[in-house]
Amino acid sequence: MRSAPAGNPSGPVLGIETSCDETAGAVLAPDGRVLAEVLLSQEEHTTYGGVVPEIAARAHLAHLPRLVREVLDRAAIAAKDLAGVAASSGPGLIGGLIVGSGFAKGLALARGLPFVAVNHLEAHALTARLPGLFDPPVAFPYLLLLVSGGHCQLVEALSVGRYRRLGGTIDDAVGEAFDKVAKLLGLGWPGGPQLERLAAHGDPVRLALPRPMRGRAGCDFSFSGLKTAVAQLVAAYPAGPLPERDAADIAASFQRAVAEVLADRAANAMQAFAHRHGSGALVIAGGVAANAAVRGALERIAESHGFRLLAPPVRLCTDNAVMVAWAGIERLRLGWADGLDRAPRPRWPLDAADMLPAAGV
Ligand code: KG4
Ligand code: ZN
Repeated sequence: MRSAPAGNPSGPVLGIETSCDETAGAVLAPDGRVLAEVLLSQEEHTTYGGVVPEIAARAHLAHLPRLVREVLDRAAIAAKDLAGVAASSGPGLIGGLIVGSGFAKGLALARGLPFVAVNHLEAHALTARLPGLFDPPVAFPYLLLLVSGGHCQLVEALSVGRYRRLGGTIDDAVGEAFDKVAKLLGLGWPGGPQLERLAAHGDPVRLALPRPMRGRAGCDFSFSGLKTAVAQLVAAYPAGPLPERDAADIAASFQRAVAEVLADRAANAMQAFAHRHGSGALVIAGGVAANAAVRGALERIAESHGFRLLAPPVRLCTDNAVMVAWAGIERLRLGWADGLDRAPRPRWPLDAADMLPAAGV
């Protein structure tokens, strides 16, 4: 079943994000101005030390209708005056994806609006193109380093819908490694921001931790060995909380190791990119892009390769609905909308054939 036909959006677009543990809605004008944004980080998971999929889905179901009403009210727009509805439709936790994309389809059907099934990774990838963010605005092609709780990959962004994956993690995602190491250090969840705060007081060169994959050809990553090395360090202490000084030194040493590995892998990607397109922009996205040590290391390596490092503000790097609405606008402008029978996909790589309309619409 088709949704209303797409076209250059003449009015605002509603974006909905429910792929993990953020329930979020945003209304964007066709020129990318944020008219309203509401974001709810589910706290239901804190006691479990990680996202519980079933709880996440139920929380999306409980909060999303009210949240969409609120964001439309704040934007002072009626649903019938929207130019489209875009929802994260994968990859992610299937329960949340069903809730968000089902809600978006229902609204699109009821109001005769085009529906856009947004690939969550593409939404991260296209955030840097949001008007007003960078001067000059980032143009295709560019290099993307996506570093989040569920993803760690280097990708060439060639145009909307066209991506070349250069490499990715062979085990843990980098945010997952931050979260696991934070847990080993007795920190709460999500661990990345807390680990960064602890690391600020630590000595990053005190402990010799491995740099997995550093110096190897290609753009793949591995973090499980690094995490295991930290686990072994921690296991050498008697049970109970670690001495504060040691915990801070471990955190700082781990963070330094991650930053160096990311920079090393990004260097290979920049070389491959420059070979094909010349030097350009290295865009970072995902929650780990909030980390100052990671940003610093990437800034230095980008500069030494003649690339411009573009790091969107933190609130746009972590999961949000502004990026989903913007991805919707980018697609609608090309005349791309999706059928209402389009099923959400828990796995949906950026280079999948159905990222382009010929196969998907
Ligand atoms: O992109 P995101 O909000 O959600 C997805 O995973 O899609 O990323 C969340 C991840 C978590 O693993 C969190 O610990 C990590 O990003 N993170 C950080 C920092 N802030 C968030 N990791 C290191 N340093 C930070 N400041
Ligand atoms: Zn994400």
